Amino acid sequence: MDTETLTITDNRTKQTYSLPINRGTIRAMDLRQIKTGPEDFGLMTYDPAFMNTASCQSAITFLDGDKGILRYRGYPIEQLAENCTFLEVAYLLLHGELPTADELSRWEENVMAHAHTHENVKKFMDGFHHDAHPMGMLVSTVAALSTFYPDAKNIGDPQCRQAEIVRLMGKMPTLSAYAYRHRLGLPYVYPDPELGYTKNYMQMLWKRTEPTYAANPVLARALEILFILHADHEQNCSTNTMRAVGSSHADPFVTTAAAIAALSGPLHGGANEEVLRMLDEIGTKDNIPGFVQKVKEGKCKLMGFGHRVYKNYDPRARIIKRAAEEVFEVTGRNPKLDIAIELERIALSDEYFIKRKLYPNVDFYSGIIYQAMGFTPDQFTVLFAIPRTVGWLAQWQELLQDTDQKIARPRQIYTGEDKRDFVPIAERGPKVLATV
Ligand code: CMC
Repeated sequence: MDTETLTITDNRTKQTYSLPINRGTIRAMDLRQIKTGPEDFGLMTYDPAFMNTASCQSAITFLDGDKGILRYRGYPIEQLAENCTFLEVAYLLLHGELPTADELSRWEENVMAHAHTHENVKKFMDGFHHDAHPMGMLVSTVAALSTFYPDAKNIGDPQCRQAEIVRLMGKMPTLSAYAYRHRLGLPYVYPDPELGYTKNYMQMLWKRTEPTYAANPVLARALEILFILHADHEQNCSTNTMRAVGSSHADPFVTTAAAIAALSGPLHGGANEEVLRMLDEIGTKDNIPGFVQKVKEGKCKLMGFGHRVYKNYDPRARIIKRAAEEVFEVTGRNPKLDIAIELERIALSDEYFIKRKLYPNVDFYSGIIYQAMGFTPDQFTVLFAIPRTVGWLAQWQELLQDTDQKIARPRQIYTGEDKRDFVPIAERGPKVLATV
């Protein structure tokens, strides 16, 4: 008997089935043959929130949540954060290999050549209210790019896909910076491709009247590291959205806009903004025990803690904590760091968090750095979306080349009414409606 199989006995029929196991997985479709009779649809799996379902095969990011390991294309995240630029890592994620010096310089040139946007994008941005949330502005303007580049619909053409990938990567910092300045009522600053990805982004954010904005190199490097850490994270909520929407063959701009929308939620990328609000609410170290008690009573969550996959320290949080010290040498110490460190210490020695394996995630320390650098909390998730765009695009590209994939279309277990006949309006009595 092949040992790489699973034997299932259906106690309803006493019939036995042997299902192949491949890479620790059985195919859900293999269960469909398990029926009680010809009228039976066949067995399905029920897995809300994909707790135990692999939706794809991917060669991009490896994550071992129990051991706290994260690798892009096989390279440990710690080594990439230490040695690479963000665009080098972006190339790796998209192409599978680190670039040579020549490949990197052509890639950088190519991405930066697409940093400019059509002038009409600015008019679009101008239409937002002065206090519009930047994530809402980003979702809308990225979706709007689809109307500027109708060729992007040719998702089956690899050259066309490459063109749109580079376009989107080039434009994300520009759109984000426009959203930032719109809120402040400041004129938009055009990209300066010569400055490179992160320094150009910083000048688009913070340039005032000086002829050339000179980004602080320590802060620019810290931003580069943060971008590398956020670039991909396998099948999280927004990446799953990217794949689901992309599976309908929608163009990459509207597909990415959907992924940005998923990222904005407070349980996902929006958590970094919530962490700052939480630290503000706690205020001083003395209030930490009382706050932790509230979390344990289920009155609120400890934002920036916990993860679906990591049941150990998130390796990204460790790198960010270290980068924070370097940033603070330039900006001065953000007093929230001390509250966060004490909060982490108390939480990690508390039975509630130990039992549930809740550790700091990437969002726990990132906002503290961003704030010290001069970002307001509503910008934090935008700073997640810019680098994650490359991960979404790499996953989108992989999806479109995967012959196993089809349009994403889960099944459901119907729990509603059985067939009933239409009742004319005059004959309908009052009903107790279910709370929606
Ligand atoms: N504070 C307090 N309790 C928590 C927390 C938290 N942050 N996270 C999980 N728990 C508890 C949860 O109440 C549950 O307890 P019980 O077993 O008694 O019901 C248990 O831990 C398991 O949690 P879960 O909600 O079943 O876990 P999940 O995998 O569905 O959720 C999560 C993962 C990230 C949504 C959740 O941990 C959370 O809401 N964390 C706070 C938000 C946050 O920091 N999100 C950023 C995630 S990392 C960046 C990213 O990828 O976006």
